[in-house]
Amino acid sequence: MSMDTDTGADTSMTAKVLNNSRLYVISYAESIIRDLITNLSCSTDYFDSYSHWGIHEEMLKDEVRTLSYRDAIMQNPHLFRGKVVLDVGCGTGILSMFCAKAGAKHVYGIDMSNIIDKAKEIVKVNGLDDRVTLLKGKMEDIQLPVAKVDIIVSEWMGYFLLYESMLDTVLYARDRYLAEDGLLFPDHARILVAAIEDSEYKEEKIGFWDDVYGFDFSPIKEDVWKEPLVDTVEAHAVNTNTCTVLDIDLKTVKKEDLSFQSSFQLTATRNDFIHGFLAWFDIDFSACHKPVHFSTGPFTNYTHWKQTVFYTRKNLTIKAGETLSGTISCKPAERNHRDLDINLSYTFNPTDSSRSAVSENLFFRMC
Ligand SMILES: C[S@@+](CC[C@H](N)C(=O)[O-])C[C@H]1O[C@@H](n2cnc3c(N)ncnc32)[C@H](O)[C@@H]1O
Repeated sequence: MSMDTDTGADTSMTAKVLNNSRLYVISYAESIIRDLITNLSCSTDYFDSYSHWGIHEEMLKDEVRTLSYRDAIMQNPHLFRGKVVLDVGCGTGILSMFCAKAGAKHVYGIDMSNIIDKAKEIVKVNGLDDRVTLLKGKMEDIQLPVAKVDIIVSEWMGYFLLYESMLDTVLYARDRYLAEDGLLFPDHARILVAAIEDSEYKEEKIGFWDDVYGFDFSPIKEDVWKEPLVDTVEAHAVNTNTCTVLDIDLKTVKKEDLSFQSSFQLTATRNDFIHGFLAWFDIDFSACHKPVHFSTGPFTNYTHWKQTVFYTRKNLTIKAGETLSGTISCKPAERNHRDLDINLSYTFNPTDSSRSAVSENLFFRMC
């Protein structure tokens, strides 16, 4: 032990405390830098993923999506004529060009990914470069040449609506640039859930890992359980009513509201097994003269968003009229804010004693 001759304090202890706190500061700084690098590389990866034309081909060819935007914009020239429009995440410039055709005075399209270089050429070859200005950069970093815009258009929706967290960017643009009585295209979004019978595909996706060419691959199975499955589900697989778990008014919603918790109650429409929950989203352009709506659900035409399946660990036997009650919560993941952490818990109390009550708390990460 070494003593400070003036104070009598244990200097080795002081040094240790100092060293420990220095170590703590260093490791805290390291963790901040690590998170910054992760987020930066996630962000670079994110914008890189939109640089190739292939992803834009998929979106453009999704007619439910693209024709809904085209109808909402071009069937409402009375809303666009003479107006200044901001296209958040313009990609190939398709929505910007719809707005110009609908009579907008000027359209500003913003995109951080390299696809915007092609979009500038596309706008030019279509003779719209006098009314469409495309600016390369992050919406959050760019300074628009106008103080306010009359309309914001954006196609920001990801799987399960919120995956990719691009809505945060639209809300930033709304709060910074949209005039008081300005319009948003689209302006409403909802997430809906139902339960499904899906024995065959569940076995194919989950059971597969139990016996892979005679080997037990169960260490992978745990990760498979936790990842929601993005795929198309036939309408007849749905065996309950549907329930809205998130309803967003884009004019007023705040970024904090996108981390949500919501309860639901689902009633079986027939005697059946339940293997999981299904989620999808619906979109509305309600500012239009004749409102435009589209759904990414199982009861209508295919979209590239498909639906999202959350498999339950247990399979349930349910009778028509019986109910399942549950809670779903969703928030951006800490390490990468574009990923989602989703908790889904449910309880099922059967109406007869031949079946036992079931309840589960399930965690999923969409990444
Ligand atoms: C789903 S795509 C839509 C592209 C185009 N609007 C369309 O409808 O075909 C979203 C686009 O937004 C861009 N984007 C996302 N977040 C952005 C941000 N913070 N700043 C600039 N661009 C962004 C992406 O690079 C991508 O090209």
